[in-house]
Amino acid sequence: MPIAVLCEPTRFLQPKSHDDLCAARKEITKPFSRISDYYNMPRPEIIQKTSDHVKQLLSGNGAGHDWWHVHRVWRNALLIGRQEDVDLFVVELAALLHDIADWKFQGGDEKAGSRAAREWLMSVNVDETTISHVCEMVDDLSFKGAGVQTSMKTKEGMVVQDADRLDALGAVGIARAFAYGGYKGQEIHNPEISPTLHQSFEEYKNSRSTTINHFYEKLLLLRDLMNTETARRIAAHRHEFMVAYLNRFFLEADGKA
Ligand code: ADP
Ligand code: NI
Repeated sequence: MPIAVLCEPTRFLQPKSHDDLCAARKEITKPFSRISDYYNMPRPEIIQKTSDHVKQLLSGNGAGHDWWHVHRVWRNALLIGRQEDVDLFVVELAALLHDIADWKFQGGDEKAGSRAAREWLMSVNVDETTISHVCEMVDDLSFKGAGVQTSMKTKEGMVVQDADRLDALGAVGIARAFAYGGYKGQEIHNPEISPTLHQSFEEYKNSRSTTINHFYEKLLLLRDLMNTETARRIAAHRHEFMVAYLNRFFLEADGKA
């Protein structure tokens, strides 16, 4: 319960009549959880507080999951979401919170993200329907292996999943892949190790491959997995750029350029 809730002035603090006084007494004896009913922060304020919170938590992450990744996902989620019939409040909250505690940095705990998102959203008194929706999105969003279905249950989920996946593509996507590869201590390229199309999340999670293989295990598959037309269009250009990059990479690796 935020302190501000307890300080929030209500019309009952200075009762003017006997009726007001009775109403005030009734309010005071209501269960604590009801106090949140009187503390409805405006949505723009919740978004602002959430972005400040996430920025503070993720700033400086050197493994490609920093605040500016979240910022790009947030911006792209709005761009895509404005073309769709969706609740933009849910879209913005999920975009902002989707990497708040990624399993990759939480010892493999797949529920750490939605737990942290719920805790935060409760602290700013977001309603339960919105919290459940956002948490479900945070749980479902991640890529879990080439052969694993990762379909989102709602249109809002599809929008945020597309925005997150777009940030794994193109020039930014290439930079993030090598940043994450370095963080994991994996090789850039090793022609003796072939890519694997993982058939389970467990297999994907525990795999040790190279960053160049990651393009074949995930990045080049994303274009055809986009949920929305807007994202498909952007992904097509970014995909093309990655293919050109890989062609050049192999020419150089083979001593031909
Ligand atoms: P998602 O957002 O679908 O959960 P990830 O969090 O798995 O995606 O990936 C985030 C970023 O880290 C992406 O840019 C992705 O390419 C990169 N990444 C994830 N796994 C690897 C890996 N094994 N090697 C290189 N980059 C990776
Ligand atoms: Ni992300």
